[in-house]
This record gives sequence, structure tokens and C-alpha cells, in this order.
Amino acid sequence: MTLGSARRAGAALVLAGALSPAVVAGSEREAPSLAEALYLGLPGESRVAALVGAASASVPASGFGCRNCHGRDGRGGREGALSAPSIERAVLDRASARRPAYTEAAFGELLRTGRDPGGRLLDSSMPRYVLDPAAVHALWSYLDIRAGIERRRVSADAVVLAFDGRAGADLPAAMARALGADGLILHGRRLRFVSIDEPERLDAIEAFALLFATVRVTEFRDRNIPLLFPLTPLQSRPRPDEVRGMFASRSDQADALLKAAPATARVVVDRSGRSMISDLIASEGRSLVDPSSLTELDGDVIVIGDRETWDQVARLAGPGSRIFGLGSEMAGAFERLASSGAHLVLTDATMASDASAESPARDRFARTAAALIVEAVSLAGRDLTRGGLMRAFDRIRLSRRDWPPIDYARHPATGTRESVIRHIPSRPAPDRRDGRTMSRNEP
Ligand code: HEC
Repeated sequence: MTLGSARRAGAALVLAGALSPAVVAGSEREAPSLAEALYLGLPGESRVAALVGAASASVPASGFGCRNCHGRDGRGGREGALSAPSIERAVLDRASARRPAYTEAAFGELLRTGRDPGGRLLDSSMPRYVLDPAAVHALWSYLDIRAGIERRRVSADAVVLAFDGRAGADLPAAMARALGADGLILHGRRLRFVSIDEPERLDAIEAFALLFATVRVTEFRDRNIPLLFPLTPLQSRPRPDEVRGMFASRSDQADALLKAAPATARVVVDRSGRSMISDLIASEGRSLVDPSSLTELDGDVIVIGDRETWDQVARLAGPGSRIFGLGSEMAGAFERLASSGAHLVLTDATMASDASAESPARDRFARTAAALIVEAVSLAGRDLTRGGLMRAFDRIRLSRRDWPPIDYARHPATGTRESVIRHIPSRPAPDRRDGRTMSRNEP
């Protein structure tokens, strides 16, 4: 492997890795109102109890936010066998074939007792809530506000999408090339893009959705702006009405790595990795090594961890070691590792198994994102809400030669579980051919 080809291999990974997610989303955010917390089912919301199921078990309402069943835009939806109607204010304010119009008092009655304005007792799949009149009032008003939040930054002739400015200017440029110079008009609206410099101030972002987020997705709680195609792999299973990614998740990649590594390999894992892979490791009977107790690195070692852990590994790596890691995590230490003489084995979530590595990963990523956005906005229809856009992804299947196949119906938050395993043989061997090999990993 030549230095040049090692660089190229490294550069392909930089998509995610070089953008170290130092930013914590929403750290300066105000506490949500009770109504918003109830609607969204925010964790920690214990001011209100929900009575759930036929036996009316009392549980904190945080697990039973309205949007879980009625959708983030309140338009209703299906959750498994369950079908929840629309609770948009405009709909509740009108009589339907099934019931008279709701008033605030009738809405409160329904939430407390399950009886609708026509006197029908609703199915027990709709929880009952222990609410005082002030809370009912707040929630009733919030349903009205919610419709506006869900349509913010959509006008009659445009929809505004934001790029995370920290992701680099090349991604928007590649996307613009893919969309055509004049941008695109869908359902009579032009897609407009703006670049945002402080992506962590999500509440203040004046856009419909944030693309290419560098914010730390593991801690992300969208309240009104969803993330599309964040640049780091998702940790586990974020809500698909908040985030739609384009990489195999961190745990799926770890899974692929464990399959590729010999059973005798040691597993070096820090706290950030431990929570994610402990089940997997336990089921395989492998033993874990804490990075702080690491003194040498001979033989096969699987590393799952953050930047600090990789720094430690890079210090100890040498010609005798073969190091397995997630491409996105290894990227920051890649040059040091490659020049230590270690053999590297890494996941690459940016490549379809049959793609050539020649086209830069960031170009392929941006092109694929452009195709997904166009598809989702088209499917979401003329009356565009954030909920409608996020639901539209479930109908998208995209198979391109230069990206792992995307299917959000099967893999709602990430679209894919696929990553390829790449081998970067140890240097120095100045004239050896690029020894990269790949194996398919589709669970
Ligand atoms: C676990 C799922 C679930 C959650 C959580 C949930 N609902 Fe429902 N909701 C339903 C289902 C299912 C129905 C329809 C039941 C039926 O028709 O018998 C329903 C019906 C309703 C109706 C009646 C609509 C009509 O046209 O009569 C309203 C209003 C409503 N829900 C409001 C809320 C609010 C407000 C919240 C949050 C505080 C909430 N729901 C949380 C499942 C849920």
C-alpha cells in the first residue's frame, strides 16, 4: 500500500470522523412547557400520570406522549395494529360523522375519562391522563400552536432547509450540483437552502429541517426541527420522526466488526462503547479490556471508543498489532495508526459493496442525500408538515451503485445496516499494491 492510497482510504472515512461531535444539542435550551412535554413525551416528564391499558395502570406520561400515536404533526397514524385519528386542532374543532365538535371542556373530559363529545367511550388503547383544568387548557392551546410549528418555514412558494455550516461547504456544493443550478420546485415550492453556523442552537434555527448535522445525535431531542442525514453514525435507535440517517448505526457497525474479527481478539471498549455492545459481547463470551489498563497492543484487538481511547491506542500501536475499529471512530487517529506499522481493519459505512472507492465519499453522500430529499418532499405532498416529511421517508427505497441500499421501511432511523469491512495492511511496504479487500456485511 502506498502512502497515497492510505491517505485516500483515510480520506474516505473523514466524512464522519473529522467532524468530532463536540457540540451538545440543546444545552442552553429553556425547559419545555408542560403541554409540549406531554405532547412530545419528553423523558423526565413526571408531572402528569397516564392511565394505560384496560387495567388503567398508572405510569408517568413521559412514555405516552401524544405524538407516539398521533404523529408529531397530530395527523394520526398507525402504530402496529393501532390506528390513531388526527388530533389537529382544525380537525377537533369541527364535527365529524363520528362525533360533535370538541370544545376545551369536552377535550378535557376525553383525556380524563375517554368519553368523546358524542358520549362514545374510546378504546383503551388511547391512554387516560390525570390532568387539572390548567393543564387541559395548556394542551388544548398547544395543539393549535403545534400546527404552526410543524409548518414553520414552509411558505406558499418555498421551503427552507438548513445546512449545518460546520459540515463544510463541499457538501452543499455537491448537493446543489446534483439538484441542478436552479434548485428544484416541488409541489409549487422551491427548495431553498441556508447555511447555519451554530447548529447546536436548534430552537433558533429558522428552517424546516437541519441537514448534515454535526451535533451530537446521541443526545439530540428534536422539539421542532428534525435532523436529516447527520454526519456521524447514530448510536442506537433514535426516533424516526426526529432523525433520518444514512449510515449503519454505531452498534450495527460494531456488530460487523465483531463478526469480522477472530474469536480470540481482545476487545478494548470505553464507557461510550460499553453501553452499546455489552449484550453482543456477553453473548459471544468475549472479555472486555478497559482502555486505561492497556499497556501493550500485540495481536488482534477490537477497539470501540471515543477520541481519547483512540489516542491511547495510537500511542501503543505497532507492527505486531492488528487493530479492528469503526471507520468513523478510527478516522481521527488514522494517519498515526497507519504509520505505526499496525494492520488496520475497519468498517466503512459509506460504501456499497460493489462501489469503487474512487469517487469521494462526501460527494456520494451529498448526491444520495439530494436524491432522498427530492423523493421525500415529493411524497410528503402539497400540505407539507415536518411529520408528513418524516413519514414520507418510510416509503423510500433507494438503490444506488455508490451507496449502501437505503430502505427506511426496514431500517427506519438509519435506512441501512450495511457497512463494508476494509483491510489496510501494515506499512512500510512502499510498492505493494493496495491490499484493500472487502467483504459484504448485510445482516
Ligand atoms: C398509545 C397511543 C396513544 C397515545 C399515547 C395517545 N393517543 Fe389519543 N388516541 C389513540 C387512539 C388509538 C385513539 C382512537 C380510539 C378510538 O377511536 O376508540 C385516540 C383518540 C384520541 C382523540 C379522539 C379524537 C376524535 O376524533 O374523537 C383525541 C382528542 C386524542 N386521542 C388526544 C390525545 C392526546 C392529546 C394525547 C396526548 C396527551 C393522546 N391522544 C395520546 C391513541 C393514543
